[in-house]
Formats: sequence, structure tokens, C-alpha cells
Amino acid sequence: AVGIVGQGQAQANANIALIKYWGKADEDLIIPTTSSLSLTLDGLSTRTSVQFLDLNAGPDRLAIDDQPQGGKALGRVSRFLDLVRRQAGIDAPALVSSYNTVPYGAGLASSSSAFAALAGAACVAAGLDLSPRELSRLARRGSGSACRSIFGGLALWQAGQDDASSYAQPVDSQMDLALIVVLVSGQEKRISSREAMRRTISTSPLYQAWVDQSQADLEQALAAIRANDLQALGPVVEANALGMHAAMLAARPAVSYWLPDTLLAFDAVRQIRADGLSAWATLDAGPNIKVLTSGQEAARVAEELRRRLPGVNIQVHKPGPGLQIIGSDGG
Ligand code: PMV
Repeated sequence: AVGIVGQGQAQANANIALIKYWGKADEDLIIPTTSSLSLTLDGLSTRTSVQFLDLNAGPDRLAIDDQPQGGKALGRVSRFLDLVRRQAGIDAPALVSSYNTVPYGAGLASSSSAFAALAGAACVAAGLDLSPRELSRLARRGSGSACRSIFGGLALWQAGQDDASSYAQPVDSQMDLALIVVLVSGQEKRISSREAMRRTISTSPLYQAWVDQSQADLEQALAAIRANDLQALGPVVEANALGMHAAMLAARPAVSYWLPDTLLAFDAVRQIRADGLSAWATLDAGPNIKVLTSGQEAARVAEELRRRLPGVNIQVHKPGPGLQIIGSDGG
């Protein structure tokens, strides 16, 4: 029988950036070129369990939603676990199993919940007792955006210059926010965010302009949050995302996540806004849009979106909690 050295289980929610992260200053450490701001959502979660096993148990094994994984997915998880093993001074192979309520790889930030949950579960299993900030730095190494999912609600990832200074922290706010996910397509994306960022940085003449503007956008967004002013937050959120996609579209060859239905959804948001409701759209590395609104208006905005986009899956998400450690067992 295979002995269990340690095990842990954790759950984290996906976050959606309001002011985006797009581009690495350091590819290996995942230090971003810009600071970013996000909202962690309820109901878009990953629950992961990690068991470290006896050395003779063979290589790491990974299952996502009960499907055994090899290749790239396993390699990425193994390299991440190596960071945990190094910190803990252990050598044990791992058995990792994770369950998602987020469609995988569809630009719905599944990697943010995945690597936040994996960081939490792996640390418990390895007997590492890390602070939230240290967990944020660790999760960042798996997927940049995951550093923000350690925290619930609004989170600010300060870019920093090195491993120690690049982490997320919670942003205090009384704002009544909601994000409506408009699922234009649940298909896996054609180009990974890693590859797409690389191409944007190295070939897009518009990239540096977006980076420069992003700093001002972030300050404006934080000021709007401090003032509890959604009418000031919404426009800068939408503009920041469109600027990021403009930089991608100008890359050579172009990086485009847009589908015809993405444009239709953007247009619906504009109409709804013209009718006097609070609604601003944002878009990540996929064709699905997320609509920022107030919690109070969310049901009406969702209803208006459904009326204008028949047949499209539209779900309201309120702010959700950060990393939750579910179970530990020293073994
Ligand atoms: O964490 P990554 O490498 O999947 O990058 C995520 C990038 C965006 O989702 C497009 C923007 C963001 O800040 O989350």
C-alpha cells in the first residue's frame, strides 16, 4: 500500500480583472508589467485536494473533473508543486484532484481559481504555514491572476519588481458590485494567455501605450472605489479592457479573442446603458464578456441582456470569498 505523507484540501473562486494584467516583465517569476485590480466572484470555484505520497508512488498524478491529465496540464502542476516541495524540503510525489464550477480554459479565469486552490491545498499537504501574502506570491507563480484569488472581493495586485514585492492585497470597499457573465462560447481558447501576452509585448505597436495608460486607469479606478462611485468606475473598467484588446489586435499576427457574438453582447451593453442602467463590459482571454453593474441593478441588467441575447447563458455573480482551507490531515 502507498503511504500518505500529508494531505490538504482547499477551495478558491475565480476573479475577473477590472483593470487588467497583460504582459510579463519577468516570464519565469511572473512579474507583471502593470499592477491590476480584480473582483473575486462567488460561484466560479475550484476545489482541489493534494496528497503527498511515499517516494515509491511514482510520478505526480493529476485529475481535473475526474479526467486524468498528462502533457502540458500535468507538467504545469508538477512544476508548481516543485516550488512547494522545495520550500517544504520534501521530495514526495503528489496526487492532485480538482473540481471546477468554471468552464476550463474559456477565458473565465479558471486558472485563477485553480492555482489559488492548488497553492492552498499543496501548502497544507506539505505542512507549510504561509501568510496570505506568501500564498499570494506562491499562487502567482502558477498563473499570474491566481495571486488575486487568495483574497475575496476587490483585490489589488501590485506589480512589484521581484518575487518578494509582487503580490495581491485586499481593497477595502463598501461598494455594492456584481458581475454578469455572458457565456458567448464555452469552448477552450485557441491561444493561451501566456503565448498571447508574449506576442502582444514583442510585436504590438500599441502595447506600450496601453501600459502607460493602465497606471492612470488604476489610479482612477481606486479613486472611484474610495468614493463609492460606480458611475466613475464603470467607464474606466470598460476602456481599460478595450485598450488591452486594441493592443492585442495590433499584434502581428493579431491576437483576437472576439467572436461575432462578442460584438453583439458589447452592443447590448451599450443599449442597456443608454436606457439608464449601470452596465459596462470587460473581456479577457476569451470571447465571453462580463458586465459590471451594481448588486441592486444586477437582476434587471441580466433580464435586459437575456432579452437582447436570446439563447445565451447569462449568470449574475456577486463578490465571493478568497481562499478557503477545507481540510487538513498531517497523515
Ligand atoms: O493569469 P493568466 O496568465 O491566465 O492571465 C490572465 C490575464 C487576463 O485574464 C486576460 C487579465 C487579468 O488580469 O486577469
